[in-house]
Amino acid sequence: MKLASVPITLTQCAKTFRGTRVLEPLDLHIDAGETLVLLGPSGCGKTTTLRMIAGLETPDAGGRIAFGEDDVTALPIEKRQVGMVFQSYALFPNLTVRGNIGYGLKIKRVPAETARQRVDELLGMMRLTAHADKPIDQLSGGQRQRVALARALAVQPRVLLLDEPLTALDARLRDALRSEMNTLLRELGITTVYVTHDQAEAMELGDRIVVMSAGRIEQIGSPREIYYRPANRTVAQFVGTINRLAGERRDGMLTTTGGAVPLPAGSTHANSAHEIFFRPEDAYLADPAHAQLRGHIESTAFLGERTRLTVGGAAPDALLIDVAGRVELARGTPVGISIAQDALIALS
Ligand SMILES: Nc1ncnc2c1ncn2[C@@H]1O[C@H](COP(=O)(O)OP(=O)(O)OP(=O)(O)O)[C@@H](O)[C@H]1O
Ligand SMILES: [Mg+2]
Repeated sequence: MKLASVPITLTQCAKTFRGTRVLEPLDLHIDAGETLVLLGPSGCGKTTTLRMIAGLETPDAGGRIAFGEDDVTALPIEKRQVGMVFQSYALFPNLTVRGNIGYGLKIKRVPAETARQRVDELLGMMRLTAHADKPIDQLSGGQRQRVALARALAVQPRVLLLDEPLTALDARLRDALRSEMNTLLRELGITTVYVTHDQAEAMELGDRIVVMSAGRIEQIGSPREIYYRPANRTVAQFVGTINRLAGERRDGMLTTTGGAVPLPAGSTHANSAHEIFFRPEDAYLADPAHAQLRGHIESTAFLGERTRLTVGGAAPDALLIDVAGRVELARGTPVGISIAQDALIALS
């Protein structure tokens, strides 16, 4: 199934509920066919943004939403040609799988034969053919999720809007469906806005990620940009795990509790903070005599494919260091740590 997709532009879209501003004026452009993920902690305004795009909320005066050349700001949801999946799925419990998927087509008075063909196609695509005539309450969580997605796609929307579609599932199923979702979204090529507070989901699914906090956009970028070049501390701390090295700047080095590391290029200007950051996987154990930093093992956690070491004494904060495979080091063991030079991150 190939769908026609449109770009979406939000211009100065703010939202106030009963005198409280929950979204600051927001500008956002989503390319046709792109999957844009809205990522952020609870209450930051993700659902509100999605509902404005859907036509379930209107932006405060002055805000404008366009689908391609069409100004849709004043259009209600049923005229916007959007497919939406809610966190709760909101399936009709009294209808079968087929009835749920075909519901929107019936409302739109699509001819029965066309509707049947489209529903059959979606049943096949979502691997639900064998369950077509079952009532919803006989389906597993993953199957319900696929019914909700099929129902959203049945009306051939120009835009697909997904609000935490995997959150209701257990961790194992969520991982499996995440990669299915990835394949499906690429295959469909439909403009998609995907809301989540799960950073792994955002990284896997997003062509670009919008990191939000407290009603504003903190950063927009590809998953790699967000992860390796976070715009600020809020982003760095929300996406992945990050270590902080605090100390004194001297001669191009940052001197901290357990040694010194060369400052990253670009952090030499006068007002740069006396702290730098790095990811746990970007440091490695080295001979303490030659390592940049010296500390001792506080604890180790075996995580299967890697071991996460907590190292004390190397910096004011304990550092988390990921090493491949099995490493068994007793608490108190002295260790040396060096950090890949290009992995140091300076943040304002
Ligand atoms: N209809 C409403 N009336 C009043 N306040 C609202 C309404 N809808 C949302 N809010 C408030 O707006 C803020 C943003 O809510 P929103 O649902 O967009 O957050 P979210 O990022 O989707 O959070 P979550 O991850 O918990 O779903 C919250 O503080 C919420 O309480
Ligand atoms: Mg929400």
